[in-house]
Amino acid sequence: MATLSFLHSQWFVEPPVPTHDFSGQTVIVTGANRGIGYEAIRHLLRLNAATVILAVRSVSRGNEAAAALHSATGRSGAVKIYELDMGNQESVKKFAAQMEDLDRLDAVLLNAGIYTQDFEFVDGHESTLTINVINTFLLAMLLVPTLRKSSQSWNIAPRISIVASDRHVMTNLPEWKAENTFQLLNDEKKAKMNDRYYVSKLLQILLGRELAKRLGDPRRRSAGASRIILNSFTPGYCFSGLTEKAHSVTAFGFWLLKKATARSTEVGGRTLVAAIAKGEESHGKYLNDCEVDE
Ligand SMILES: NC(=O)c1ccc[n+]([C@@H]2O[C@H](COP(=O)([O-])OP(=O)(O)OC[C@H]3O[C@@H](n4cnc5c(N)ncnc54)[C@H](OP(=O)(O)O)[C@@H]3O)[C@@H](O)[C@H]2O)c1
Repeated sequence: MATLSFLHSQWFVEPPVPTHDFSGQTVIVTGANRGIGYEAIRHLLRLNAATVILAVRSVSRGNEAAAALHSATGRSGAVKIYELDMGNQESVKKFAAQMEDLDRLDAVLLNAGIYTQDFEFVDGHESTLTINVINTFLLAMLLVPTLRKSSQSWNIAPRISIVASDRHVMTNLPEWKAENTFQLLNDEKKAKMNDRYYVSKLLQILLGRELAKRLGDPRRRSAGASRIILNSFTPGYCFSGLTEKAHSVTAFGFWLLKKATARSTEVGGRTLVAAIAKGEESHGKYLNDCEVDE
């Protein structure tokens, strides 16, 4: 069923070119220098976003992306580059502190992510867990006060959108039964690294739901209430650099699947823009093909 739904999306659904107007808005995109994050920014600049913050682990790659965005869209002043290494908690904290100075923050696209089959400790945990899950949610939580302030000052409902994946269905996370799930996932001898990316994407969806609950209902209109909308979504399977480090047999499988089914990087980028344009009905929900998918 999940395979049929995947093939249906890949072959028969093309997410529409976004048309939402982002005039006056400030948007943060992590992992912004390439892939679907970069393509989303191209759309956001076309759709009049006032400021797009490119959060990148390499400032020189960020500068290259900014130059390319300038020549593609004719807009340069709207792009700001900040260093952010999602593999380093101190970098995440520093970035979040810098964002506190923003006058207005409308949306955060938590897009930076990795795929690896190699077990490596980064920042005290296996690298996929650190980058895709732990530091992604650390950043989300550290940005909440800035988003709340924006909500109250500008009477807006700022968005947090997490780039998850429909491939979360590839695991049912047997590790959840362990007394300490993260301890088990961090055990190199027991780690099933072929599943690890899917585990990280399932955790993103589950933790996203939980964080949405804790943020409260964005429909409430009581005096002083802040209204943050959080959703997660799949961009579908798209051309990008994501699986460039996959091992040979897996790499061949990805290559074949890409040839047969993948969306272009630009089409993938549309789904990021759609996620931050969604309304209150998407709070705590997961989107597929730009629509809420229960
Ligand atoms: N492409 C797909 O088919 C697909 C499907 C489902 C979900 N996704 C998700 O979409 C998101 C974007 O991936 P993509 O497909 O566009 O892949 P990509 O081309 O590899 O782009 C990934 C981006 O994340 C950045 N990044 C990686 N590690 C980082 C770190 N430690 N700190 C800061 N930035 C870091 C990369 O920066 P560098 O250039 O410096 O490496 C790059 O800008 C990921 O979360 C991925 O899981 C993609």
